[in-house]
This record gives sequence, structure tokens and C-alpha cells, in this order.
Amino acid sequence: MRVAIIGAGVAGLTTAKVLTQAGHDVEVFDRTPDVGGVWSRTRRYPGLTTQSPKTQYSFSDHPMPRDLPEWPTGAQVQRYLESYVTEFGLSACLRLETTVESVVRDGDGWAVTSRANGKASTATYDRVVVANGVFCEPSIPGFAGREEFVAAGGRLLAGCEFHDVEDARDKHVLVVGYGKSACDVAVAISEVAARTDVIARQMVWKLPRKIGGLLNFKMLMLTRLGEALFRYRRLRGFEKFLHGPGNRLRRAMLNSVGSVSVRQFGLNRHGLLPRGRMEDIVKGAIGLATEGFFEGVAGGSIHVHRDTTITRLGTDGGRPSAELADGTVLPADLVVCATGFTQGVPFLDGGVQRQLFDERGNFMLYRQIQPLGVPGLYFNGYNSSFFSPLNAEMAAVWIAADLAGALTLPEEETRRADVVGQLAFMDEATDTHHCRGTKILPFSMHNVDEVLGDLGLQIGRRTRAAHWLGPISPAAYRKVTPALLDRLAERPSPPAVTPLDSAPTSIAL
Ligand SMILES: Cc1cc2nc3c(=O)[nH]c(=O)nc-3n(C[C@H](O)[C@H](O)[C@H](O)COP(=O)(O)OP(=O)(O)OC[C@H]3O[C@@H](n4cnc5c(N)ncnc54)[C@H](O)[C@@H]3O)c2cc1C
Ligand SMILES: NC(=O)c1ccc[n+]([C@@H]2O[C@H](COP(=O)([O-])OP(=O)(O)OC[C@H]3O[C@@H](n4cnc5c(N)ncnc54)[C@H](OP(=O)(O)O)[C@@H]3O)[C@@H](O)[C@H]2O)c1
Repeated sequence: MRVAIIGAGVAGLTTAKVLTQAGHDVEVFDRTPDVGGVWSRTRRYPGLTTQSPKTQYSFSDHPMPRDLPEWPTGAQVQRYLESYVTEFGLSACLRLETTVESVVRDGDGWAVTSRANGKASTATYDRVVVANGVFCEPSIPGFAGREEFVAAGGRLLAGCEFHDVEDARDKHVLVVGYGKSACDVAVAISEVAARTDVIARQMVWKLPRKIGGLLNFKMLMLTRLGEALFRYRRLRGFEKFLHGPGNRLRRAMLNSVGSVSVRQFGLNRHGLLPRGRMEDIVKGAIGLATEGFFEGVAGGSIHVHRDTTITRLGTDGGRPSAELADGTVLPADLVVCATGFTQGVPFLDGGVQRQLFDERGNFMLYRQIQPLGVPGLYFNGYNSSFFSPLNAEMAAVWIAADLAGALTLPEEETRRADVVGQLAFMDEATDTHHCRGTKILPFSMHNVDEVLGDLGLQIGRRTRAAHWLGPISPAAYRKVTPALLDRLAERPSPPAVTPLDSAPTSIAL
């Protein structure tokens, strides 16, 4: 089939690799000049590194170079993704600096209109995979007084638009937000700025990279046991114990990480203690503390204004400034808004868009991949996790199987009920912090298991058991794609309609 993939980040690239290996003719569009998506040079802010350690932020069949640090920089990840392109011969299918403007139905397929060098062109494809990134379009609050602020020389940027730390040298800088981007960028800025103020709407719990300064967080949190500390929709095996008789032990394990981080970061001393306990981390953006952030607070180079927002930008004595909800006025030459992202698919026509969302605007995607009632369209990367490359790779395998008619799925109404149930569960579990249904944290491996369950594939029990107590290794999944490709090669040709009695039996790899 001819397949258009929108986006050359982690999700688009792994989809291109798997579908090419499955024999499809693939084109990958990206508006940026380089591959990498959030790791592109057009999006990286100074000081960016991964949160996931390098082994966990890898594809199953393409390890990160040994000489990279445990948490590689943005530039190193981008180069890793370039090496993936080279390793799997994907260069020829890349259409960089090409923006997809519209995707409309054309018979059984799709007409995709894209623009490169100011010139629009339309081509038809049998299938389309939307891999346009759920943390790609920055969301900037609409501050009152912005025009006056800008006219006085003030600058307002999104975190992903701030590329050169020199732009902050000797300036008064406000960083809005208290997520990972905000804390990262605040540390980089604080090294050169005259003053760095962080405006945090609410305090949230953050995991230390090294718990107690010693234990890499992956040893606890990036294991199946770590994931099982959070109650999933359906409990299996040991999870039943952890959320039953072992509930106190489970909570104690999570909250002890909280107690350690309170001491390690001096949260009480600095007045930065979040409400609730560490187990509430699941109710917000689950992320890591930035190295140097609390040290900056302690040393006086970073000033956090907690539980407040900017009510107005403007001028104070002719200088650009910002007023906070408590009336404080701060000088502000530069305001960096690390205030999150919007998730959208503006290139899809209205009819398709109406099928995609529930009444609260959440993406209705079966297994985070397949929209309901829109045949021939798939999503990848709408499963953001601590193992995003692995989740995206397994989703790509699922898409390859479906393209070949080799997936036996429940009827649409059953799938719809499953999606509705999953969204209701995530609403409850994360207090709606799931980015319109596109973020699966902290249930990364449950998603991998469900995707592989549909395929009738799974890695060996012993390896999975090892992942309960030690960090999960994406490399353990390297035989999944070859196993699917072998299975597809054995099939005579894709049936027009998949017979319901041909459910694949599970193969352990
Ligand atoms: C700063 C940052 C750090 C992160 N760190 C981690 C981490 O450590 N661990 C982890 O598991 N996850 C992390 N994540 C989550 C991250 O989103 C995923 O890891 C992954 O990189 C997302 O890949 P993607 O391909 O889905 O999307 P993206 O990387 O966002 O790529 C989408 C691409 O689509 C392109 N695009 C969008 N619309 C169009 C269009 N109309 N036409 C053409 N091209 C288009 C964009 O230009 C972009 O290049 C991080 C996210 C951010 C923002
Ligand atoms: N690898 C890495 O190191 C890394 C780096 C950056 C990002 N990421 C990932 O990328 C994703 C996005 O992270 P992010 O930090 O960019 O965004 P985020 O997690 O969505 O955080 C946005 C922050 O901005 C605040 N905010 C939003 N709207 C606001 C408004 N109108 N006024 C004031 N404050 C506002 C939010 O406050 P509330 O909490 O009150 O909503 C929150 O503190 C996350 O999954 C994250 O893990 C990873």
C-alpha cells in the first residue's frame, strides 16, 4: 500500500521502519528541516535531556550508543534518531520541510495536500498514519497587556521556541509553569540571567533522578513493579495483592520516595511542598525533578512564586513587566511560557474530526491507535509514556498487522465501549491529566501488553518476570517485528474481510 505518515519524530520514524519492512511504500512528511520531532534543533531548549534513561528511551532494535550519558542531551537523541534513519534506509521516504495542510477522503484512500517551498501539491495514499506529536504545538496563555509589553521591548516565547540561552543573558526572565520544560529551562536561564522567577500555578510532586542522591529512579519506577504501584483498570496477578492485602505496603513504597524527595530537595525549607503525598503524582504531570533546580532555589538564582499566575503583562516605569495574582509586579524582559501543548489534527476535515473526539474533546482511539468509524486512518505517538519509543514501535507493529488484515478485533461497538471505559478510567486515575487521552503514563507497559495481546505476541515469561524487579529493557522486544513479518509472509494475501474465527494464538518470543 501507499502510506502517508505525518511527522518524522519517534512515532513517525518507527512507523516508517516497520511498514517499509512489511513491504509498503511509505512517505514521511515533516515541516521541520531535520528528523526528531521534539528533539529537532528547531524545538530544543538549552539544557534539554531525556527524562527516561537512554536504555529505556530506545527502540528495541537500535540501542543508543554506549558512550552516551545515562540521560542524553536533546542533540544526542536527535543524532540517535538520524542513525535510525540511516540504519533502516529511511532517507528516501522522508519529505522534510513539507507541511501537510489537508487530508481528505478519496475513495477508499486519502488525498493528502502538502506544501514545500511555498508550493502546494496533492497526492493520494491508501492509508494515512497521523504521527504529528502530542507535545508539538505549544500552548501560550492569552495574557492581557501583551501588546504594551511587546511595544516596550518585552519578549514572549514558548519553551520550545527558546533556543539560545544568550537571549536571557543579564535579563530579568520569568518562566511560566512548573512542569518538566519549565524547570529545565529555568535552570539553563538562571546560569546567565540577571534574575529568574518561576511562576507556578500549582506545586506538583516530582521524582528524583537519583532517589536519595544514589538510586537511579529506573530501578524502582521503570520496572513492572513500579508501574503496578499505580492501580490499573484491570488488575492481574501480583497487582491484585498490591491493591488488596498489600495496599499499605504499596502506599508506603510510593510515599517513602516522597519523603526522601522532600528531604533531598529541601521542599519544606523552600516552601515548595506540594499538597497531598507522592502517590498523588499520578494526578498530575508525572515527571522528574530537573538537576540543579532546587539547588538553584537554595542558592538564590531561581525564585519560585507558588500557587499564582500572571494576571497582566505591561510596563512599570516604561520597562516591560508582569503583574501576578497577588499584586506583585516583576520586571520581565523575557517571559518564557513552558505552559504545555495543545493536541490537535487541523489538517483532517471536519467530518473526520467529528468522529475522533468524545464530548470532552478527548481522542477516541482504540489502543491509542485506531479511530472508530474512520477506516484507513491510524495514529501513532498518541501513547506518550516513559518508554515512548517502545510504545510507538509496538503501535507500528499493530498498524502493520491491521494493514495486512491480520488483526482480529472485536466489533466496533465493543471497541467503542473499551475506549470509553479507558478514558473514564484515565480521567479518574490521573484527575484528567492525560492530555486529551494521548498520555498513558503511568501505564506504559499495560499498553504494550494490550497491543501485543491483540497481535497474539508476547515476550517470554522469564524476561517479563525480570522486568518486575529490574528496569524494563525495550531490547527485550526486538523479536516482535520479525515475528510479525514472518507471520505476514506466511499469509497468502490479505483477506478483504478478516474471518472472526481466525484469532491468532499467542506466540511467546
Ligand atoms: C521536551 C520533551 C522531552 C521528552 N522526553 C521524553 C522522555 O524522556 N521519555 C519519554 O518517554 N517521552 C518523552 N517525551 C515525550 C515525547 O513526546 C515522546 O518521547 C516522543 O518524542 C514523541 O514523538 P512523536 O513522534 O510522537 O512526536 P513529535 O516528536 O512531536 O514529532 C511530531 C512531528 O510531526 C511534525 N508535524 C506536526 N504536524 C505536521 C504537519 N501538519 N505537517 C508536517 N509535519 C507535521 C512535527 O514537525 C514533528 O516533527 C518528551 C516530550 C518533550 C516535549
Ligand atoms: N525529557 C524531558 O526532560 C522532558 C522535558 C520537557 C517535557 N517533557 C514531557 O513533555 C510533556 C509536556 O511537559 P511540559 O513541562 O512542557 O508541559 P506540562 O507538563 O503540560 O506543564 C505545563 C505547566 O504549565 C502550567 N500551565 C499551563 N497553562 C497555564 C496557564 N495558562 N497559566 C499558568 N500556568 C499554566 C501547568 O500548570 P498546572 O499543573 O496547574 O496545569 C504546568 O505547570 C510531559 O509529558 C513531560 O514529561 C519531558
